[in-house]
Amino acid sequence: MNYKGFFFACLLAVSVSVVAQSPVYLDPSHGIEARVEDALSRMTLSEKIAVIHAQSKFSSAGVKRLGIPDFWTDDGPHGVRPDVLWDEWEQAGQTNDSCVAFPALTCLASTWNPQMANLYGHSLGEEALYRNKNMILGPGVNIYRTPLGGRNFEYMGEDPYLASRMVVPYIQGLQSLGVASCVKHYCLNNDEEYRHQVNVILSDRALHEIYLPAFEAAVKEGHAWGIMGAYNLYKDEHNCHNSITLNKILKQDWGFDGVVVSDWGGAHDMDQAIRNGLDMEFGTWTDGLTMGATNAYDNYYLSKMYENAIRQGKYTTKELDEKVRRVLRLFFRTNMNKQRPYGFLCSEAHYEAARQIAQQGIVLLQNTGNVLPIRIEACRKILVVGENAIKMMTVGGGSSSLKAQHEISPLQGLQQRLAGKVDVEFARGYVGDATGSYNGVTTGQNLQDDRTPDALIAEAVEKARTADYVVIFGGLNKSDYQDCEGHDRKSMDLPYGQDRLIKALAEVNPKTIYVNISGNAVTMPWLNKVPAIVQGWFLGSETGTALASVLVGDVNPSGHLPFTWPSSLQDVGAHALDAFPGIWRDSEKKIIDEEYKEDIFVGYRWADKKKIRPTFAFGHGLSYTTFKVSNLRVKNKVTHDGQMTFTVDVTNTGNREGDDVIQLYISDLKSSVERPVKELKAFQRVSLKPGETKTVTLTTDRRALSFWDEVSGDWKAEPGDFQAFVGDASNNLPCKVKFTLQ
Ligand code: BGC
Repeated sequence: MNYKGFFFACLLAVSVSVVAQSPVYLDPSHGIEARVEDALSRMTLSEKIAVIHAQSKFSSAGVKRLGIPDFWTDDGPHGVRPDVLWDEWEQAGQTNDSCVAFPALTCLASTWNPQMANLYGHSLGEEALYRNKNMILGPGVNIYRTPLGGRNFEYMGEDPYLASRMVVPYIQGLQSLGVASCVKHYCLNNDEEYRHQVNVILSDRALHEIYLPAFEAAVKEGHAWGIMGAYNLYKDEHNCHNSITLNKILKQDWGFDGVVVSDWGGAHDMDQAIRNGLDMEFGTWTDGLTMGATNAYDNYYLSKMYENAIRQGKYTTKELDEKVRRVLRLFFRTNMNKQRPYGFLCSEAHYEAARQIAQQGIVLLQNTGNVLPIRIEACRKILVVGENAIKMMTVGGGSSSLKAQHEISPLQGLQQRLAGKVDVEFARGYVGDATGSYNGVTTGQNLQDDRTPDALIAEAVEKARTADYVVIFGGLNKSDYQDCEGHDRKSMDLPYGQDRLIKALAEVNPKTIYVNISGNAVTMPWLNKVPAIVQGWFLGSETGTALASVLVGDVNPSGHLPFTWPSSLQDVGAHALDAFPGIWRDSEKKIIDEEYKEDIFVGYRWADKKKIRPTFAFGHGLSYTTFKVSNLRVKNKVTHDGQMTFTVDVTNTGNREGDDVIQLYISDLKSSVERPVKELKAFQRVSLKPGETKTVTLTTDRRALSFWDEVSGDWKAEPGDFQAFVGDASNNLPCKVKFTLQ
């Protein structure tokens, strides 16, 4: 052998021995399950215990000896939360943790566009990768049960089907980058005020038909790698360690192979934490917001006390190994995945995504006399009124609070768009909450204004008299008891005396436009006096740009409501039946039993049943053009397997390009159980040029015809006649067709 040959022989020998020595768990050529088993077999008891609980506010330990790094989570769901100190809720003071704030999930849901959900998840995932976060604590898919819900803005509305279709692509977008989602809050977390004490009582039908489908889709179709248990109880067990919701439904029935993460401080009992499905314990001895014991990690339920109990023979390692397997699987999917791409923070593409989602989610609720869009050519002065025109909304609201690199306010958005063309004046109109800070992030805005409400209204009215348009930005904010974690709203009315202001302005200016900033419905006693109403959500970094583009007509509005907008609380099942927030079980006030008496009749299901006309219906959303939906056809009027294909023609009958959201609802004409009048079962967004017609295809499956049968504990579709309704809002369904399941 010559010198060269000898050299290559040596190289081969060395590389063969390196390959031979590379342990299975580190070698990606082996499947994940083989790597999990190999890593598990190498871990000591203490190492296993270390990976199943937190070591800081947002991280858990990896296995240093085996080269497995720490695992980092972060909120979620609207952007990557800035870093707090290791063991404090206060800011770590990083200078590289400002992010793009994406629109709140209520806005995402109102796009009715699964592609936007995918873009959202993907963009957020890139930001998470840059920040070295392995799991985003989101998205949230709790059902909008009452407009008082403090966290409704973080969720995807009232309808299980809509939320299901939107959550799946969000997860896929995020996880395609090797960043885990942690879908929350599983389940029945519909009460903020008493979230730690509420024990939900409901029928199996309501559980399966209304409150679980979005989680089920997240698991079965989105293949979510994480689920966060909710704070509240179900059947007297906390949802972070619940034998029915976690062991039976999530893991056994749905085959979930990811990790169950406790909500921060949601674990309460060692034995239940061991046996009832919890895999990673976080935030114990904190309230998840501001309070907490220092360095409590060794005192977690799944920490030293569990380790000692195993050493004392009280438990085998059976449950522990099962948890560790799931955690290792998560590691190999995320921080041990060497194929993960690089991330980007605050890239132009992310701002563009945030803007596009916001533009598609803004809902034109009312436009009497076509006051909107603002005609710039015929306009000299616009008066902008209201605290929400200037207040930064990305700070506040609880754990979803962000440190946005920039946030363009509605006023700035209009000023930028109209610069050099129209005078934009501002009047404060009302003072809501002049403060702006969360966990040490401050907006830096000085919003203090000590004038009386009368003086503020008088100033706005005076300026409104000479304005071509008045645009009021009001609504809620992210302060306590508004749209904020930890509390529910106390009333459905607009706070801070806004109703008086809005009425006064509408009286002096016929071109008054009200833009409501919130994640919840509010009462509108001035509804018939204000010609144009827009739902502006919490839109994140690009708030002002997106709103301005819709108001002046650069973008034709196309969002549709993901919840019913009732005219008062009495039109909501939970309130009509006095079933929110429940009844204290005893004088100690430890548990409050909340019976969901309205059962499956949530949102439009309740309005339909009681023949209530809401202020704005579920699925409602106007455009600057008009559409006609016609010629509904069904492929096979008799079906054996429940698979159905419907086609319908949609024509743009106006003179502007625009998008419509075509919705299909199904009604079971005869059933052995009471069923909703109709339920959403398919939808499709469609873009049309003026005069253009497109044929939209909508498909449904057997589940779309089924109800949850409490006797068999399964879905059941009863043979018989059904009716499908198609249109572009739950109260505008001009086409219908009957079909039969045999
Ligand atoms: C919230 C969760 C959040 C967690 C961590 C809790 O208070 O309920 O949604 O992910 O804190 O911040």
